[in-house]
Amino acid sequence: MRHGFMPPEGGTPTGAVAQVVGAPNPRASSSPDGWVSGRGEIHCRRPAVRCHRIERFPVNLRPQPAKAAYYVSDIPFDNYTGPQFLAVFTFPFPPFRPISVQQVLVTGGAGFIGSYLVEALLARGDRVTVIDDESTGQFENLRSVAGHSALTVVRGSVGDAALLHRMLEGVQVVYHLAAAVGVALIAREPLATIERNIYPTQLLLDEISARHKAGQGIRFFLASTSEVYGKNPKPVWDEEDDLVFGATTRPRWSYGASKAIDEFLTLACARQFGLPVVIARFFNVVGPRQTGAYGMVLPRFVEAALAGQPLVVHDDGRQVRCFAHVADVVGAVIQLMNSNSTLGRIFNIGSDQPISILDLANQVITLAGSPSTVQFQTYTEAYDQDFEDIRLRVPDLTRLRQAIGYVPRYNLGGIIRDCIEAQKKQPPAR
Ligand SMILES: NC(=O)c1ccc[n+]([C@@H]2O[C@H](COP(=O)([O-])OP(=O)(O)OC[C@H]3O[C@@H](n4cnc5c(N)ncnc54)[C@H](O)[C@@H]3O)[C@@H](O)[C@H]2O)c1
Repeated sequence: MRHGFMPPEGGTPTGAVAQVVGAPNPRASSSPDGWVSGRGEIHCRRPAVRCHRIERFPVNLRPQPAKAAYYVSDIPFDNYTGPQFLAVFTFPFPPFRPISVQQVLVTGGAGFIGSYLVEALLARGDRVTVIDDESTGQFENLRSVAGHSALTVVRGSVGDAALLHRMLEGVQVVYHLAAAVGVALIAREPLATIERNIYPTQLLLDEISARHKAGQGIRFFLASTSEVYGKNPKPVWDEEDDLVFGATTRPRWSYGASKAIDEFLTLACARQFGLPVVIARFFNVVGPRQTGAYGMVLPRFVEAALAGQPLVVHDDGRQVRCFAHVADVVGAVIQLMNSNSTLGRIFNIGSDQPISILDLANQVITLAGSPSTVQFQTYTEAYDQDFEDIRLRVPDLTRLRQAIGYVPRYNLGGIIRDCIEAQKKQPPAR
């Protein structure tokens, strides 16, 4: 399938020019992100790329002058540091419009990942409704798109059947991200985790399935998690691997088990009613806007490093994780939902570049130029004596690569730098 942007009705695409900055051929009309056809159409290779209009450039575009220019990438122009290729397309006509517009519902859209997803969907021209109860997210996360004419936000719970019924009217795509998230939150509130992760998903799927049977075509995306693999001892996890949970006396497994139930429910609707669904298991998604309040490690480290305080590392710090930038993850999610070959399937999404938590802490300290030190803390001190951790968590991304040609834009250094820069811009906590 080809995703593209067309000049608006009546636009005369004369003299469309593309320049690839940093590429060997500075006049090339294509980049890893997209290309310009002879008819002046902008084509994006990945649907999630954002098109940022730029008034002034730090680079000398030729030929000049351009009446309008677009930087086509999912990395905000302000954050572009290279050396990855970047396409700047110049056009002598007003903003282009996406070829097809969809009516989308995003649950948990005021959360960390949800807010990036909403931005990306709006950028490609979809009409988006967000439902969020602000239990762990906040509508402030949608500041950059507040007041957007294609965005509707509703403060409410996915567990509210009447509200859900109203909100699904006319919807063609549902991204279900609302959930209780975070190891610390789960250790503190196991009951709420189970309730929040199972009942609303069932309600949502019941409503969608009923509409599907009545002829309203709706695609459903479920945000699942690497936690469903539990403590499977394999060094790399693929989507067909067993789920290996610990004892039910250890509340931490309730998160993975509740998300596994969500997966079973979703797949059951696909099998029984032919509902078009896609499930993604996220592996440590990070980036600006993520809060450390619920136990997420990178924002905690960045905050501590910038404040010159110790970085608290649990246990011996030799637990291994892989960190992916939220912009890469959201791009992959949208691509998966735009394909028919992905329906009814489960995909790992994340990075497959492992790092120990201790090395991560040291890298954050170095990149922040911080005088901070590392301080070790036992799991019992951090959570309670029942806590059990996963030592190694690395995804097999073969299926994702085969499905959408997934190539992440950010490496770990770029991710940490992005988080540090964003955190520096935050107003100091009072
Ligand atoms: N961040 C990660 O690394 C990661 C890893 C694995 C899976 N996930 C999954 O991705 C999804 C998004 O996670 P996130 O990191 O953005 O967390 P988040 O806490 O920032 O986002 C979750 C959002 O859902 C909202 N919410 C929760 N219950 C709700 C309800 N009943 N009704 C309405 N809104 C509700 C919260 O207020 C929040 O805005 C979750 O489903 C999570 O399980 C995330």
